[in-house]
Amino acid sequence: MAFGKIGQTLTAIEIFDLVRTDLDQVEREIGLESIASVDAITYIGQYLQSGGGKRLRPILVLLCGKMFGPATPGLTRIAAVMEMIHTATLVHDDVIDMAKTRRGRPSINVVWGNHTSVLAGDWLYMQAFHVALRERNFAILDVLINLTQMMVEGELLQLERIGKIGVTEADYMELIDRKTASLFSACARLGAVCANAGEEMEARLGDYAWNLGIAFQLVDDILDFTSREKILGKPVGNDLREGKITLPLIYALETAEPEERRLVETVLTDGNYDQVPFAKILHILNRHHSIERAQERALSFTSKAREIIGGFPESAYQRALTAVTDLVTERDH
Ligand code: IPE
Ligand code: IPE
Ligand code: MG
Ligand code: MG
Repeated sequence: MAFGKIGQTLTAIEIFDLVRTDLDQVEREIGLESIASVDAITYIGQYLQSGGGKRLRPILVLLCGKMFGPATPGLTRIAAVMEMIHTATLVHDDVIDMAKTRRGRPSINVVWGNHTSVLAGDWLYMQAFHVALRERNFAILDVLINLTQMMVEGELLQLERIGKIGVTEADYMELIDRKTASLFSACARLGAVCANAGEEMEARLGDYAWNLGIAFQLVDDILDFTSREKILGKPVGNDLREGKITLPLIYALETAEPEERRLVETVLTDGNYDQVPFAKILHILNRHHSIERAQERALSFTSKAREIIGGFPESAYQRALTAVTDLVTERDH
């Protein structure tokens, strides 16, 4: 057997190999579909596509769809659609977050400015829908429209909470459900929809990917404290600087001394680390073991995802979806 014995974990390369030719097709599709009659949009599309990115969302679509049979042109098209939607949300997210770097390069808003970026994001979004419409399948549109509203609501909720120190774990979970897990879940569901796998499979795969997505965002928020900009491709310490209280800080603040709380509040209000260095915030997180707690929380979601995918018939794709859970928690970028 090409993928070793049952239950053996696959490596990233082995997972990638299962969808490599389909992903090449996805890249071609994205390239072709990102050409507009206005040059700025085409340049922005090329800039984003060539900037790297893990392509995790199309990989999910493909692995989930291929669990039920060979990839169809519809499946690779929808995989491209999901990466395009992801890209459009990153463009808008970077405008909202006033981000400076993305995928190791100056972000779109820095290169083209906010106005062009918002419009290019809109265009990409609509182009993704345009491509999706070719399937002539209302079930796909239903998922995509719900998803878009969920994600926009997530970003709006996040905006309302910017600069607020009193964010609870429940508030945080609601936010990451909307802004990240919903997209992961939609990717898996649509993989199943394209493969005509039936509603039950669709729902179970959606559930699997939702748990994966929650863990993914938890890890993103942990890496924001623990990684380095060179590896991450975006600045570290950024969430707090942007006024966002994420899970590691929520945990630390539960048991923090008033003085520690005051230090966190200072960065929140200042929007920089001039008065309170980043190392000081890291020290607070470490003193309260908050990174470890957040990591354990992430692991609880990947175990749930593994449990769900473990209920599917054994196959190379099922093993790959199991292995993806480890990649999410062990990743460094
Ligand atoms: C970034 O997603 C947005 C989050 C949900 C944290 P990725 O980390 O998957 O971004 P790319 O596509 O690999 O750049
Ligand atoms: C990402 O949230 C969620 C999106 C819907 C784009 P973040 O704001 O944490 O993503 P990064 O850290 O900018 O990639
Ligand atoms: Mg952001
Ligand atoms: Mg982040």
